[in-house]
Amino acid sequence: MVRHIDKFKAFRITERTLGGKPEYVGEIVDRAISDLPAGEVLIKVHYSSLNYKDALSASGNRGVTRQYPHTPGIDAAGEVMTSSSAKFRLGDSVLVTGFDLGMNTDGGFAEFIRVPADWVVPIPVGLSIRHAMILGTAGLTAGLCVEKLLLNGVSAERGEVLVTGATGGVGAIAIALLAKLGFTVVACTGKLEQESYLRSIGAASIIDRQTLSEPSSRALQKERWSGAIDVAGGQLLLNILSALRYGGSVACCGLVASPVFEASVFPFILRGINLLGVDSVNLSIEHKARIWRKFATEWNLSNLEKMAHEIGMQDLPEALSTLQMGRSVGRVLLNVSQAS
Ligand SMILES: NC(=O)c1ccc[n+]([C@@H]2O[C@H](COP(=O)([O-])OP(=O)(O)OC[C@H]3O[C@@H](n4cnc5c(N)ncnc54)[C@H](OP(=O)(O)O)[C@@H]3O)[C@@H](O)[C@H]2O)c1
Repeated sequence: MVRHIDKFKAFRITERTLGGKPEYVGEIVDRAISDLPAGEVLIKVHYSSLNYKDALSASGNRGVTRQYPHTPGIDAAGEVMTSSSAKFRLGDSVLVTGFDLGMNTDGGFAEFIRVPADWVVPIPVGLSIRHAMILGTAGLTAGLCVEKLLLNGVSAERGEVLVTGATGGVGAIAIALLAKLGFTVVACTGKLEQESYLRSIGAASIIDRQTLSEPSSRALQKERWSGAIDVAGGQLLLNILSALRYGGSVACCGLVASPVFEASVFPFILRGINLLGVDSVNLSIEHKARIWRKFATEWNLSNLEKMAHEIGMQDLPEALSTLQMGRSVGRVLLNVSQAS
C-alpha cells in the first residue's frame, strides 16, 4: 500500500552553531518512510496540534529532546496505512498522544508516523479526526484533571472552581468541560483582553493572574475554591492551596510559571485539602482510551471549533514561538495535509 510513497513532508528541527552558541532551526524537508523508526503501525497523519512541550522540543530543550535533527509533535491523528498488529486495520481512524511521540521518537509534525501498536488509540465513533486533535494532549490532560477532581468529591454544588492558564490549551478545554458539567468556572488569565472569549467558552468570571500570583505570608487565606486545575505551579499554585475550601482539591498538571513551590502543611492538616498530580504522557493506553470515549459521548464539546485555529506546516516557526512566550490563545490545530 505504501510502496509507492517515496517521500513525505516533515517539519525537522536541526541544531546549528551560530557565534559559538547552538541555534535550533525548523524547516519543511522531504523524508522517506524508511527513515521512520521501527513500529507496528504506520499512520498517515491528517492533523496534529501544538502543545507547550512541542515548543520546548523545537527550541532545543534537552529535557524533552536529546538529539537533533528531530521531528516534534507529541500529538497525531489520522488513518492506519499498514499494521502488523491485529488490533488495527488499513483505514482505521486513530490517534497517538504522549509516550515518546515527538520527544525522542519522530512526531506528528509530519505526513507519516510509525509507532508501537500499544501507543495507538482508536478514535471512538462520535469524534472526528479533526476534533480529536483540537482536543489533543491538552484535552486529554484537561479531561484527566476533571476526572480526578470528580473522583475526589469536587462537585458543582460545592462552589466555584478555578482554572489557571485559561487562554492556553489545557485551560480552555478545562473551562469548556467544567462549564458543560455545570460548574461555575473562574478563569485565571494574564490576558484580560480575552474576557469575552473566555466567557464565550464557559467562564462565569475572570480573575487577573497577577492578583493570584502575589506572594503572601499567610498559609491559610479566605476559603474560596472548591476545586482548581492548575497549569502554572510556583506561587500561583501555593496561593490556590491556601484558598481551597475545606476538603477541596487542586489538580496540578503544569509548570508554566515554575516547577517549584514552597507550601505549608496547614491547608492540608487543617482543611483536609488534596493536591492531585496529573500525567497524560505515560498513563496506560486503557485509561487514555476511556477518556477519549468520554469526549465522544457525555463530554462531547460542541464549542471545540471556537477554541481552535488552524495552521499549516509553514506556519509552525511563528506559532511555536508564540506558544513558548505564553501568547497563544486556545488550541492550534496543525493541518498536516496542507504540506503537500
Ligand atoms: N501533566 C501533563 O501530562 C501535561 C499535559 C499537557 C500540558 N502540560 C503542561 O501544562 C502546561 C500548559 O500546557 P498548555 O499546552 O495548555 O500550554 P499553553 O497553551 O502554552 O498555555 C499556557 C498558558 O499559561 C498561561 N501562562 C503563561 N505564562 C504564565 C506564567 N508565567 N504564569 C502563569 N500562567 C502563565 C497563559 O495563559 P493566560 O495568559 O490565560 O494566563 C498561557 O496561555 C505546561 O506546563 C505543559 O507542560 C502537562
